[in-house]
Amino acid sequence: MFVLEGAEAGEVAGYYTLSSLSADPGELPANVIKTLRLPRARAIPVTLIGQFAIARTHQGQGLSERLLLDALERIWEASKSVASWAVVVDAVDDGAVRFWRSYDFIAFPKSPSRLFLPMATVSQLFETK
Ligand SMILES: CC(C)(COP(=O)(O)OP(=O)(O)OC[C@H]1O[C@@H](n2cnc3c(N)ncnc32)[C@H](O)[C@@H]1OP(=O)(O)O)[C@@H](O)C(=O)NCCC(=O)NCCS
Repeated sequence: MFVLEGAEAGEVAGYYTLSSLSADPGELPANVIKTLRLPRARAIPVTLIGQFAIARTHQGQGLSERLLLDALERIWEASKSVASWAVVVDAVDDGAVRFWRSYDFIAFPKSPSRLFLPMATVSQLFETK
């Protein structure tokens, strides 16, 4: 688990976990498969952000963006060594779906509470050239 520390020693302001997952390209929108040139015939590796949360005492201060950028950069760095086509999240409720969509995550057509962000999009955030 990755933890964002608060100002006080030992204070937890937020956290998330990362794990590898395989996704069936058939679950993705057809235009995404085409644009990203994904193989249709086999499962593709993706990275799951789990348990993403800001502690109640620290919510509403813009920390979620910092925590998300930390996760995305870590995933992007790792994807240079171990392939991952996208970042996947499971939203806990409708508010969480809106939260992820505000960061351009796209819902899986058949399971709208599961969303993804193509690694090609993540790369654009961190690539310097
Ligand atoms: C979702 C969560 C991480 C947001 O953290 P936060 O500290 O409250 O939010 P921030 O202060 O960083 O706000 C960032 C932006 O997200 C928006 N936002 C926050 N919570 C939101 C929600 N539930 N739905 C929609 N938008 C939300 C804010 O309005 C803000 O937008 P703005 O910059 O345009 O004003 C936090 O509320 C949380 O941990 N919730 C419980 C667990 C959860 O839902 N996890 C994520 C999904 S699985």
